[in-house]
Amino acid sequence: MNIDAIDPAGVAGEGEAPVAQAVLSSHESPAGAFGSCGTRLVGPPPRRPVPTSISMCVDLGGLEMKNPVTVASGTFAAGREYGDFVDVGSLGAVTTKGVSLNGWEGNASPRIAETPSGMLNSIGLQNPGVAHLKEHDLPWLQERGATVIVNVSGHSFDEYVQVIEALEDAPVDAYEVNISCPNVDAGGMTIGTCTDSVEAVVGRCRAATKRPLIVKLTPNVTDVAEIARAAEAAGADALSLINTLLGMAVDAKRRRPQLARVVGGLSGPAVKPVALRMVWEVHRAVSVPLLGMGGISTGIDAVEFMLAGATSVAAGTVNFVNPRASVEIVDGIAQYCEEQGVQDVRELIGALEC
Ligand SMILES: Cc1cc2nc3c(=O)[nH]c(=O)nc-3n(C[C@H](O)[C@H](O)[C@H](O)COP(=O)(O)O)c2cc1C
Repeated sequence: MNIDAIDPAGVAGEGEAPVAQAVLSSHESPAGAFGSCGTRLVGPPPRRPVPTSISMCVDLGGLEMKNPVTVASGTFAAGREYGDFVDVGSLGAVTTKGVSLNGWEGNASPRIAETPSGMLNSIGLQNPGVAHLKEHDLPWLQERGATVIVNVSGHSFDEYVQVIEALEDAPVDAYEVNISCPNVDAGGMTIGTCTDSVEAVVGRCRAATKRPLIVKLTPNVTDVAEIARAAEAAGADALSLINTLLGMAVDAKRRRPQLARVVGGLSGPAVKPVALRMVWEVHRAVSVPLLGMGGISTGIDAVEFMLAGATSVAAGTVNFVNPRASVEIVDGIAQYCEEQGVQDVRELIGALEC
């Protein structure tokens, strides 16, 4: 996997270089053309799913999704950076990078390291704050007809609530409350590993909104089902899992850690078996629907998560490798259904036989 394209903020990579095409006459496409016989950079249009007869709609705790595929928070920015590659309105939903009340600077660099079949990040929830999201990103997503899940961060219980309150008049379809980030000292995973704090923060967020509330779980616990039950009891409409697994990488020659923060969150194909196991465990422990993620790169990966109990799925680290992966995953699920004689994608949810 080549992660060189990831920018230092850990949001969208630059992705593929546009295809250079000769422009034969400037009056056909004046914008960006270099004179009448010059060359301009033109890419293919943003990708949409191939039309299918399969019923692809799912309901994630009150969030109507036109297909089961969203993107994992922090791997797709707020969608705009991927707009040349993906028709964001054609996804089941766009999940934004985590947003806090005021901007956060994030952690010191280096904060990305490549690992076998995955990557470590210690971005630390860098973001420009909720006002910026409302002003710049949400209108752009709305213009494109995107279904929007905003990922909510906080350094305190109050901050989670304040972010939600600030977004209540904005075009947002659901909130995903991140109580599982391993890269911040306050909030994040420190909240998501203990049932008492999970119940407290989810209860407060629940009281702040009637919109669908998705709670994002950490895999860095002994019993994920126990945490899932606490979130459900406190009012979560759906649960998403997994966030990244705490890990570290060492540079032996320099005898130094590869990340400035020493430890970071592991993601990508390396975590998929752990994520699948946790989705399966949580599916048996709660009755709210699940948004599964962790190493999903193909339609078949996504189907595996749905069979294990996920209602919908998110493409994460794969976006840095293939910026059109999310739409290709939609197509891959539909193709699997066609081949298997499945008329409605919801038939896959929890259909694992064991
Ligand atoms: C660079 C990077 C930034 C991330 N930022 C966030 C974030 O802001 N909020 C959040 O809930 N999860 C964040 N995550 C976790 C992902 O949303 C996802 O849960 C995790 O990467 C597992 O999925 P994957 O293996 O498909 O990437 C981030 C992951 C990466 C790689």
